[in-house]
Amino acid sequence: MTQPPHNLTALGDFKPSNIWQTHINSIFYGIKGPLIHNHFQTYVSLDYRLAHALANDFYTHAKNQQPKNETWYVQEWGVGNGNLAACFLSHLREIDSENEVYPSVHYILCDESEEILKGVRANPRLQEHASKFSTVRIDAEHLNCFRPSSVAKIISNEIWDDLATKVLLKHQGLFYEEYLCPFLDMEAIPAEKNIFLEQFNNKDLTNLAQLPPFLDAIHWERDFQRINLDDWPFAEILKAHAEEFKDEIPMPINVGAFSTITKAKELLGPENFGYTSFDYGMKTMQDLNQEGRPYFNLYGGQYTFMVNFPLLENMGRSIGFTDITREYQNQFVQKDLGSEAISLVDLMQQHPRVAEMPPWDRDILMLSTLHALNTVYRSPYSGKLDYPAMEGTPKKQRKQIAQLSKNLSSRGVPDTVAYVTREEVLASLKPLRKLGYREKDIEAAFQSPPPPVSFVHIQFST
Ligand SMILES: C[S@@+](CC[C@H](N)C(=O)[O-])C[C@H]1O[C@@H](n2cnc3c(N)ncnc32)[C@H](O)[C@@H]1O
Repeated sequence: MTQPPHNLTALGDFKPSNIWQTHINSIFYGIKGPLIHNHFQTYVSLDYRLAHALANDFYTHAKNQQPKNETWYVQEWGVGNGNLAACFLSHLREIDSENEVYPSVHYILCDESEEILKGVRANPRLQEHASKFSTVRIDAEHLNCFRPSSVAKIISNEIWDDLATKVLLKHQGLFYEEYLCPFLDMEAIPAEKNIFLEQFNNKDLTNLAQLPPFLDAIHWERDFQRINLDDWPFAEILKAHAEEFKDEIPMPINVGAFSTITKAKELLGPENFGYTSFDYGMKTMQDLNQEGRPYFNLYGGQYTFMVNFPLLENMGRSIGFTDITREYQNQFVQKDLGSEAISLVDLMQQHPRVAEMPPWDRDILMLSTLHALNTVYRSPYSGKLDYPAMEGTPKKQRKQIAQLSKNLSSRGVPDTVAYVTREEVLASLKPLRKLGYREKDIEAAFQSPPPPVSFVHIQFST
């Protein structure tokens, strides 16, 4: 165990990482609601291409079938700002020119945070489908309010990394589990120490929301304690999986994701189109065994763990899913678009000077790259990307960022992580060259091998 800095106070005891992680995350989402996207972006919060690929797939499967009890229930678990649902429904309505599928669909958005669901109900793009969706406040690890065999399709994007995750370490044939303890400088909190500790431990969202932001100031101490794998859920599967572990590498064991996969198996009806999940983590055993790869991340206080996809696939098979697809997320998008696709930020990362640029010049390059792509790109949705200058940006660059941001097209590339195709990039070659991109940089963006922690698509079907 390490020693925390002297001025910090422990907010509780050392506990298995999943306990503190889920505690912190429910405070984070409970306080912030839709403002979560000030701390991180996702591939669905502004872009539409993943949602459209899902809608195309759903339409292909549903158009020649009749739903039991007249309705195709689609559920999404962990819904953010509701943009995935809105783009799914809008695209489905558009491609369903014969009205065979869209009229029978009902989309249920499930989330444990009421603040998040409030934001979803106010989403104008989703309001266009007012009678076609409902919201349910529920913890995705305890989805006990739905009838078994009642759902046709389940979708989630970046929820598993928020759900309960234990961390396992193998050392000379013995197993150890990570324990965490949060510490905070109480001087920075304008509340009496014991009152704050009570509010923090009881997840008193109303009072915690009145305090200045404190989640990102938490200092985490870690410790590893000996455990017996026989005491863990799905012990036999875990033991077989752990046989392949290299010593001393922390392995995330996403027990919350296990619960969702088990629940999906129970909820999916006789005619169903599977459980599709997108998340961030290790796709292969080789990625898991890569020394030094990260296994957790903190975003504005939110505590996420990388997802162990090989283990989740084993889990899914053990409970009866017979058809499981595991691939990089962009492969899923590419198949739908019939063209190679990368995220815009992946293109920018290949710019020959990006590594040496100060952050504000990188912002200017990103905005200029968006302008270059926007000469050819046309989004089916209208919406202007908000791109404020970050703190510390010098005056001259701040002005430039404001100008570039103001002039962005409302039908342009919707996000800095939005997917763009090879054709769209090549058609923008002239303005991209002016920004310093060379053809070989563009080629490299499309051909870079995926890192050991990547965005992955997995689908469980029977
Ligand atoms: C990282 S955000 C992703 C949001 C959205 N899917 C996206 O990709 O933009 C995680 C979402 O899951 C929700 N969430 C986190 N833990 C949850 C839980 N235990 N049960 C239900 N929802 C949860 C959060 O409130 C949030 O909406």
